Amino acid sequence: MERLDKVLSNLGYGTRKEIKQVAKKGLIKVNGEIVKDNGMQVNPEVDRISINGEEIFYRKYIYLMMNKPDGVISATFDNRDETVIDLLEIEHQVFNPFPIGRLDKDTVGLLLLTNDGELNHRLISPKWKVDKIYYAKIDKLVTDSDIKKFESGITLDDGYICKEAKLEIIKASEEGSEVMITIQEGKFHQVKRMFEAVDKKVTYLKRVEFGTLKLDEDLEEGEYRELTDEEVATLKGF
Ligand code: URA
Repeated sequence: MERLDKVLSNLGYGTRKEIKQVAKKGLIKVNGEIVKDNGMQVNPEVDRISINGEEIFYRKYIYLMMNKPDGVISATFDNRDETVIDLLEIEHQVFNPFPIGRLDKDTVGLLLLTNDGELNHRLISPKWKVDKIYYAKIDKLVTDSDIKKFESGITLDDGYICKEAKLEIIKASEEGSEVMITIQEGKFHQVKRMFEAVDKKVTYLKRVEFGTLKLDEDLEEGEYRELTDEEVATLKGF
């Protein structure tokens, strides 16, 4: 059980003081009855609560899929740059979500955000071997020899030996190539550093899959949506 005003204020319906005023005006109902006591104990999972005639949609956790745009950083706060949190509506910001893993400032595509710490922990842990699939443009010719090197474990500039990665060539040309790459790790700048290790440069990077989820093609860059219950369930069922 929780205080009514706490539940409503956590969901972004105002400060506790504001909610007290709203309650006084008789605008809050719990299970169909007007409740003027803002401190009433409620069970938000069970009780039907409405404010101004609108029933609240209570949930403890939120799960968002964003098509991250270029130029925005995957952090909750930054002094200089716009963050992915800045792109969220207030009604989602009130849940204090954070990104699951990171994409570089210039990387676009699938980014998950949640306030579910347990799921975050599992999805970023190397133990769970979550596939992350990226589409990348490369400045040079990507060859079968690169595919083999990625398969057997690329050594990064700091000596770290990457786990096996799957590289598929979509287009190979001296002027520039297009590839899909699947990795299960999330080292800092990993894909870019893997290509640097074979003397090539990533010129465009987009994450298209994360675990069981594919980037929703209806999401323009900068847009996001909540995951469906089914998507959350498959993600947790990993
Ligand atoms: N690898 C990178 O180099 N950058 C990303 O943003 C993600 C993976």
